Amino acid sequence: MNSLDQLASNLISQAKADFFSAADAAALENAKAKFLGKTGQITELMKGLAKLPPEERKAQGAIINAIKVQIEDLLVERRDQLSNAQMQLRLNAEAIDITLPGRGHGVGGMHPVMRTWERVEEIFRSIGFDVADGPEIESDWTNFTALNSPENHPARSMQDTFYIEGNDNSGKALLLRTHTSPMQVRYARMNSAPIKVIAPGRTYRVDSDATHSPMFHQVEGLWIAEEISFADLKGIYLNFVKVFFETDDLQVRFRPSYFPFTEPSAEIDIAFGSGPLKGRWLEVSGAGQVHPNVMRNMNFDPEKYIGFAFGSGLERLTMLRYGISDLRLFYEGDLRFLKQFS
Ligand code: PHE
Repeated sequence: MNSLDQLASNLISQAKADFFSAADAAALENAKAKFLGKTGQITELMKGLAKLPPEERKAQGAIINAIKVQIEDLLVERRDQLSNAQMQLRLNAEAIDITLPGRGHGVGGMHPVMRTWERVEEIFRSIGFDVADGPEIESDWTNFTALNSPENHPARSMQDTFYIEGNDNSGKALLLRTHTSPMQVRYARMNSAPIKVIAPGRTYRVDSDATHSPMFHQVEGLWIAEEISFADLKGIYLNFVKVFFETDDLQVRFRPSYFPFTEPSAEIDIAFGSGPLKGRWLEVSGAGQVHPNVMRNMNFDPEKYIGFAFGSGLERLTMLRYGISDLRLFYEGDLRFLKQFS
């Protein structure tokens, strides 16, 4: 074996040892520089060729090239090995354990207040009432003024609310509606008699305790016709609560009250004939005959038409139906509570 062959086999085995002992890609690139880099051993050998006579240069050049090719092959082999090993590590680390139990899909349920909302719609639809929907951001005019609460009237303080910056198209202040009663005005101005409508929806007040929430729900009812009386309103409401609470063993009474937009006004109470609430009068709704001023704001002649209205709290109805004592439970989002209704 001549000295170049010797050198070749030394270099190759040295490169092999260095490459295969490199633990990662960075170490491998360092090891590569030792042989193939600018001042690496192969590069140095190439440079040495220049001093040789042409014949020898050609022969030695071919040998050095062959060494270089072999070292490059070794380099590629080790590179592949290292990147495969790394891939394997990642695959192991990110492996999905298909034997683990699945996460499952929670099935949503309807909120108890929404159940009441839908139930109320169903009951009133069944006796020929239309169902209307109105804006939660109301104008001061529809929420108060048109309902016979003039600006600065003390009755407005019964329903303090949240005001919105800016005004509506006609320059009226904007607020979060304090009741669904503005829907009486909106609906009546857009429809002709006879009118039978309910308008369920969200309402807002500056109020918060076990029986009040700053956001709550009401359902408004409005009935305008020529020949109706309080007895008709009472009949309809009695029918409604009987169907809603699924019992005939129930009484309704109208207790005198005050609302600026009805005259006379009443509070509707119900009493169950059996069950845990047996015999107690429970307030469920405000009601009354639509005030002549309000009839005029609705563009109805109060001499010709008569209107009856009621406004009931959906939370209140829900609490009575299910025996819930704290209204705040509805809005805490506690699944232990909510799941009982789905
Ligand atoms: N809007 C009244 C309230 O929120 C309830 C009501 C409605 C009273 C319709 C009379 C007629 O308290």
